[in-house]
Amino acid sequence: MDINKIDYNKLPQHIAIIMDGNGRWARTKGKFRIFGHQNGITSVRETIETAAELKIKHVTLYAFSTENWNRPKAEIDGLMNLLVNTINNEYATLMKNNIKLNSIGDISKLPIECHHKLKEVIEKTQNNSNTTLTLALSYSGRWEIIEVVKKIIKDNISINDISEDLFSQYLTPNNVPYPELLIRTGGEKRISNFLLWQIAYCELYFSDKLWPEFRREDLLQAIIDFQKRERRFGKTTEQIKN
Ligand code: IPE
Ligand code: IPE
Ligand code: MG
Repeated sequence: MDINKIDYNKLPQHIAIIMDGNGRWARTKGKFRIFGHQNGITSVRETIETAAELKIKHVTLYAFSTENWNRPKAEIDGLMNLLVNTINNEYATLMKNNIKLNSIGDISKLPIECHHKLKEVIEKTQNNSNTTLTLALSYSGRWEIIEVVKKIIKDNISINDISEDLFSQYLTPNNVPYPELLIRTGGEKRISNFLLWQIAYCELYFSDKLWPEFRREDLLQAIIDFQKRERRFGKTTEQIKN
């Protein structure tokens, strides 16, 4: 896949990815699930480096869902260790590509060393300005919506001031645009509680590739597919063309 096939005037401002299929990939190799998670890091690196090269403003990666806390403890521990090590090891990648790290989700639930390492690298990369990489950790869309509702009530917002705009400001305090392209690898065609509010008009792209197999050309392919779509937002084709 040639990067020259990309139309730089029609890039999505925000790409969100459900990185699925690590466990199944490991199985095909006769290995434990954690081997799949470990190999998924290469895919993360290629994805964010490619996104940074294209100057895509926002990439959000679903790394650990609220529901993933229900997995066996050994797998959770393995994932949390991998998270700390990866944030540590990839700090240089973030700096080299001018990438700012961020997170969404209930990160206070993460083991303390994860929480600290994450906060440290978030702070150290805050002045980077090319691409913002947001890791969704201990995250679910419903959790996030309930958090917004709680904040709105706490702030004593009058019922007349409740609007989609206001909700949106609470949801994304840094004015992050909603994802325009959502990619899910691993063959499943579901959302699994990711960014429920934000993806109302997002373009969905499902890949049968298992996450550890996902490479630069797969991301480019998804972007090219996105660029061929007509986004109508409820209007007619004729309205869009004029
Ligand atoms: C995605 O891969 C990574 C996480 C959910 C943390 P999975 O671990 O869900 O892999 P499969 O879907 O079981 O193959
Ligand atoms: C979604 O994958 C969560 C992440 C990629 C972090 P899951 O593997 O947890 O989703 P389900 O269980 O197949 O819906
Ligand atoms: Mg899965």
